[in-house]
Amino acid sequence: MKITIYGSGYVGLVSGACLAEVGNEVLCMDVDEAKINKLKNGEIPIYEPGLETMVKENHAAGRLNFTTDAKEACEHGLFQFIAVGTPPDEDGSADLQYVLAVAKSIAENMQEYRVIIDKSTVPVGTADKVKDVIKETLRERSKDLEFDVVSNPEFLKEGAALDDFMKPDRIVIGTDNPRTAELLKALYAPFNRSYERVIAMDIRSAELTKYAANAMLATKISFMNELANLAEKVGADIENVRHGIGSDSRIGYSFIYPGCGYGGSCFPKDVKALERSAKDHGYHAELLTAVENVNARQKHRLFEKIINHYNNDIKGKVFALWGLSFKPNTDDMRDAPSRVLLEALIDAGATVYAYDPEALQEAERIYGNKSGLTLCESPADAVKLADALVVVTEWKQFRSPDFQQLSLQLVDKVIFDGRNMYDPELLQHSGIKYYAIGRSNKLAVSVSVE
Ligand SMILES: NC(=O)c1ccc[n+]([C@@H]2O[C@H](COP(=O)([O-])OP(=O)(O)OC[C@H]3O[C@@H](n4cnc5c(N)ncnc54)[C@H](O)[C@@H]3O)[C@@H](O)[C@H]2O)c1
Repeated sequence: MKITIYGSGYVGLVSGACLAEVGNEVLCMDVDEAKINKLKNGEIPIYEPGLETMVKENHAAGRLNFTTDAKEACEHGLFQFIAVGTPPDEDGSADLQYVLAVAKSIAENMQEYRVIIDKSTVPVGTADKVKDVIKETLRERSKDLEFDVVSNPEFLKEGAALDDFMKPDRIVIGTDNPRTAELLKALYAPFNRSYERVIAMDIRSAELTKYAANAMLATKISFMNELANLAEKVGADIENVRHGIGSDSRIGYSFIYPGCGYGGSCFPKDVKALERSAKDHGYHAELLTAVENVNARQKHRLFEKIINHYNNDIKGKVFALWGLSFKPNTDDMRDAPSRVLLEALIDAGATVYAYDPEALQEAERIYGNKSGLTLCESPADAVKLADALVVVTEWKQFRSPDFQQLSLQLVDKVIFDGRNMYDPELLQHSGIKYYAIGRSNKLAVSVSVE
């Protein structure tokens, strides 16, 4: 099948590569010329495990191509996917300017029937807006062409995006035309072989499903963070509590890890956009406001612990920071907790030596030569001159460091762990003072520097 995808970011590029992988002819269109040139030269602008090989192989096989030409893009595919960004506007609502720009560009270039598929995360009612833009533009061109607009939200996770796309939990298709639903089912058939994953529904429900999924996941995280803070107050260990509740099949173990807050390109903006959308419809979504507030507070927890440990004075202190990406296996630093922390440390007069396995380039792009920040090539380089270590992202390679070595290197022999990766008892034996999230039980507080 012939497919055009507008937007070659995390979603567009992964979708394009996976759709090409199963034999389709895919053309990825992006307005970012530098990005398209890179892709044409075999350079992958983002880090996503397995993506580079898949893009290169499909490009070499002629099934995956790249363009900045809107006319060529519209001519190519019966299926026109919109996978551009929907960043938060000033009032928290999703900014639809990029989605609507693509809709307009399709309508300006359309010569025959097209299925326009919205894969970007957009508020309820966006498909109607896309339809209106297309109708209006066709009217201006005095063209009477048939088209359909479908909502097909994407649920992939950065870090496991290829797997998620190739073996999705579900494929949500929102359409008001049964014939289009059949077309989409045929398009997704290669990803749907072991059991029926397509869930067809009306457009508005499909649009809301995506926000509902992300808001539910964000709620789980904020709930655990709220409980972690309470555990510290009452002298409990949140890790014991997590085991205790996760074993209940109605709750389950997944996504109930306490930490230093959620980040990334989706949860923060989607919770905000859903809250805003509720407000626009005269409804105050109290739970969503709380989820967001708890998360904003949680992003400061590590800093609070650090500043408390040092009696409010960290001027001149040197911190090694492990993990810059908002989660492991990605280079994405959008809304990452690491940014809140490193900026707070530097503002308070400290110096940060940061390391991340994949996000160094992104950190350099964001911070340039920010004074007080040094980007390091290895975890060992980051701790060389450090007074203390802070772990922000739970990359696998941080799971089992040499604590004896660390206790010799870290001048103040202290680790602040935003992901509860380590065993407090082990650190106690290594003579390292250990702060984690929600673990202020007897054992954790008795860990001493001596
Ligand atoms: N990143 C994720 O994990 C994820 C998962 C599910 C859904 N989503 C949603 O998918 C959408 C895209 O997210 P992303 O992370 O891939 O964004 P991104 O910022 O990585 O990529 C967006 C791309 O769109 C391009 N673009 C902007 N305007 C364009 C236009 N008029 N024509 C063609 N290209 C244009 C940009 O240059 C950029 O390359 C968002 O709505 C997001 O919420 C993201």
